[in-house]
Amino acid sequence: MKRACVIGWPIEHSRSPLIHGYWLKEYGIDGAYTKEAVPPEAVTQFLRSLAQNGFVGCNVTVPHKEAAFVAADVKDASALAVSAANTLWIEGGKLHAANTDTYGFMSYLNQRAPGWDANDLPVSILGAGGAARAIIHGLLEADAPEVRVFNRTRGRAEALAEHFGPRVKAFDWRDRGRRSRKAAVLVNTTTIGMNGVGSLDIDFHTFDPTCVVCDIVYVPLQTELIVRALGRGLRTVDGLGMLLHQAVPGFEKWFGVRPEVTRELRDLLVADIEATTC
Ligand code: ATR
Repeated sequence: MKRACVIGWPIEHSRSPLIHGYWLKEYGIDGAYTKEAVPPEAVTQFLRSLAQNGFVGCNVTVPHKEAAFVAADVKDASALAVSAANTLWIEGGKLHAANTDTYGFMSYLNQRAPGWDANDLPVSILGAGGAARAIIHGLLEADAPEVRVFNRTRGRAEALAEHFGPRVKAFDWRDRGRRSRKAAVLVNTTTIGMNGVGSLDIDFHTFDPTCVVCDIVYVPLQTELIVRALGRGLRTVDGLGMLLHQAVPGFEKWFGVRPEVTRELRDLLVADIEATTC
């Protein structure tokens, strides 16, 4: 039996076992996918002994994505671009790493809002953490002409601009609404709105009607940002799609089947999210 897992600290909240468990059953695969609580001081050792512990690979979540990147013997282009890894597997006796957050975000954006890039307008990113990095990489690869990064701590936005080059520009947090009015896409990568806490305070009345509004927060599924955007008739992309799609490449690596993100799987996750928020 093939075994994979997700590691994090804490890990109880992870919904990855629900996703991979659904696919294992759906495709009749003799496999297992478990949660493993691994404290920061034990990450490198855990990853170095993945195979000895009977795992074919793992997902990595907060706060271990940078440590996983460093621990890997072979880093693919997606991991190198973001300097962090969320998907690991053993191949030829070596520990390989990828970052599938970029793939997850871009797949769902393209599915939900095809033509988002038709007008060659800048895109706006709120936040400058690891998730922002993965998303900026994807948008640049998709030929976004300019990426505007707005972050409370401006220095972190500037560091991203430096890392990615001249198409990425840093802006003050307070300008996030004003400087996004002509954006093709606006993405919230901060934790604001999670569990209904906080407000991004963006008024979409003056926004271009073609703007696509994305949130990577998925608890609740309809965040305040998404509700406000829907209220203005804008197209929206929720955070659950990214979570579901980022899981696809890992499952294929470990279990040999490229799984499908079905309506049934999404409904399963929605029910789980609603059970925790009601
Ligand atoms: P991740 O790596 O998962 O993206 P992170 O590195 O902790 O997470 O980043 C969280 C982001 O949310 C950061 O951009 C953070 O802003 P700072 O860099 O200034 O810390 C942003 N964030 C969190 N709480 C915020 C708040 N109350 N107001 C504005 N930004 C906030």
